[in-house]
Formats: sequence, structure tokens, C-alpha cells
Amino acid sequence: DPGDAEKGGYDHFMMKEMMEQPKAMNDAITGRCSGNSVLFSGLHLDSEMMKHINRIQIVACGTAYHAGMVGKYYFEKFARVSVEIEAASEYRYKNPIVDKNTLLIVISQSGETADTLAAIRLAKDKGAWVLAVTNVVGSSIAREAQDVIYTNAGPEIAVASTKAYVTQVGCMLLLASYLGQLNGKLGENDAARLCHGLSITSGLIETVLDNQDKIKKFADANHEIYDLFYLGRGLDYCTCLEGSLKLKEISYIHSEAYAAGELKHGPIALIDEGTIVVAVCTQEHVFEKMLSNIKEVKARGAYVLAIVQQAHEEIASEVDEVWTIPNMDDDITPIPTVVYLQLLAYYLAVARDCDVDKPKNLAKSVTVE
Ligand code: G6P
Repeated sequence: DPGDAEKGGYDHFMMKEMMEQPKAMNDAITGRCSGNSVLFSGLHLDSEMMKHINRIQIVACGTAYHAGMVGKYYFEKFARVSVEIEAASEYRYKNPIVDKNTLLIVISQSGETADTLAAIRLAKDKGAWVLAVTNVVGSSIAREAQDVIYTNAGPEIAVASTKAYVTQVGCMLLLASYLGQLNGKLGENDAARLCHGLSITSGLIETVLDNQDKIKKFADANHEIYDLFYLGRGLDYCTCLEGSLKLKEISYIHSEAYAAGELKHGPIALIDEGTIVVAVCTQEHVFEKMLSNIKEVKARGAYVLAIVQQAHEEIASEVDEVWTIPNMDDDITPIPTVVYLQLLAYYLAVARDCDVDKPKNLAKSVTVE
């Protein structure tokens, strides 16, 4: 295959790009975090403009939309501005409430997604300030937005987005801190804590990348499943949505991601003997709640794979399998945790002989509706 040389010795671009995530994260953060403060050189958005912003809207598609969900959580927590998030294909057809006091944040790896571009044009017409977070320098979205933050992930070839996603999440946290600095809502302790957290994410990703044997083993043993559930709360719920999308995209296994508290409102009816449930439990403030959700699905026969911070390894007595991430700040966990779910989707797809880099029916970038 003429493309083999570009895969850097890996079987697929997706693997190469997952392995590039530590470097991509560093490139996303370098120069933007110094000591206790975040700095985006070249942004027009300043504290004067922030005074007039009373609404943030986030618009994106696919994986970028999931990064936006993490962003909503960060913006509300650290800049205390209310945030709405919508898929670009919904936003553009509903006469959204948007005016000159609106900050529209669009996220797009390629910078060419037709629906996202249309959302920018609509919001700009109504007076919004548009800030794009994108990976491709000079892309249509980069050109049409008034402010641009580049994710610096480097070229992404595999259809399933991996390194672009982690850098989008990193940029969301940087941007939330920045907006919190501009409007004075971010405390000094939080600023220092987040800068430190971001500075170590690349090493945290590496610890997950070093754990592939057990992921592959799990995938090889379970590749005939037809169904998988992801459960999480808060930031973990966003990670679950992204993990579930990854799995659908490349392995064609049906999966659902649920906010764990919603379980009892329907989806628990689908849990049977042997149903695999991936329970993402990295958030301390809802850890006990997750534990009771785990007990509920275990009682119905589920096979539970839990992902926890090391400090909660004792969960092993409650579940069938545990994958750990190092102990860390709860706000940083989406970055290393999603890498487990990317690798899980990858190894399941490989075990099922799927075309990992070019899944059926999917395109890297959807430039027409
Ligand atoms: C396509 C790709 C996805 C991507 C989405 C949004 O569906 O297959 O991986 O997340 O488009 O793309 P964008 O370039 O706007 O991030």
C-alpha cells in the first residue's frame, strides 16, 4: 500500500494519530499557559467585549460537538456564563436567539463542515461575535470567524477523530480559563490548578497508551457483542458520548451513552445477563452515585467494566474489570479517559476486521449537506 510509509510503522492512521496525542496536547497548550494565567495572542475578544457578552452558544458536529459539551461544563464552571450547545444542523434551521451580546463558539477539526459554516454566517448576520476553534489553518471556518484558536493537533487522516478531539477539549479548558480571567470569575487558585493540570495531560495520556495489552485482550474476548452501554455523570457523560460515537463509527457495534442518572428512566430495561456496561467514574463528587448505578446494572446481570482514578481501585470488588487512570484533578480526566474509549473502539474494530481508517458510509469532512 503506497500509504503505508505515512502510517509511521502502524497498521492504521488512527493508531498513529492516537499515539501522537501526547505531542498534540503539548502543541495545543504550549505558549498559552504561563504560570497562573492563560494567554491567547491575537484574539480580539477582550475584557471590554466580555462585559457585553450575556450568552455563549457552542455549535459543532460529530466529535467536535462532544468537545463542545465538555466546553459547556468548563465555561459555566469557570467563567460563570450560561452556555447553550447545539448541533450545527439544528441551530441553522431554528431561528436561534442570537444578538450582539452573544459569543458563538464553533468547533471544527477540518474547518470545512457545511452546517457549521452556515451557523457562523447566520450568527454573524445577527451580530454575534464568532470564535472558531479549528485544526486547519486557513480553512473556510477559520477565515469566516472573527477570532480563531488553532488546536495544533497536526493533520488528521483517519475518519474517526482522536488527536483532534483531545486538543479541542484542551482548548476548551484553556478558553474557559481565559474567559474567566477576562470577566474576573476565575479564582486565582483555579487558574493555577488548571494550568498545572493541562501541563501534565500529555504524560497522563501516555499512561493510557501504555496500557493497550489489556484493552486488546478485552476486545479480542468480546468482539462478537452486538451492543454496548456507556454510563457516566457530568464530564464523564461527555466522554461516554464520544466513546460511543467512536465505537459506532469504526466497529459498527450499536452502543448507547447515558447520563447514569437517566438509567432508571428507560435504558435499564435493555440491560440483560451479559450486557457489557462501561461505567466511567472519574468524578469524585458523583462517585457514590455511579456506584449505586453500577449495582443496579450488576443486579440485572451486566458485565461491568469500570474506569476510575487509581484512588478508587477498590471498586474492583463491585465490578468485573477495572481500568485505571492516574490520580488527577477531576477537571482534567476527560482527556486521558477518552483515550481508553478510543482504543477500545479501535481494538474491537480490528478484531471484527473492519476498515478502521475508512469506515463505510462516513467521510472525514462533510462539506455538503
Ligand atoms: C465528520 C467526521 C467526524 C467529525 C465531523 C465534524 O462526520 O467523520 O469525525 O467529527 O464530521 O467534523 P469537523 O471537521 O467539523 O470537526
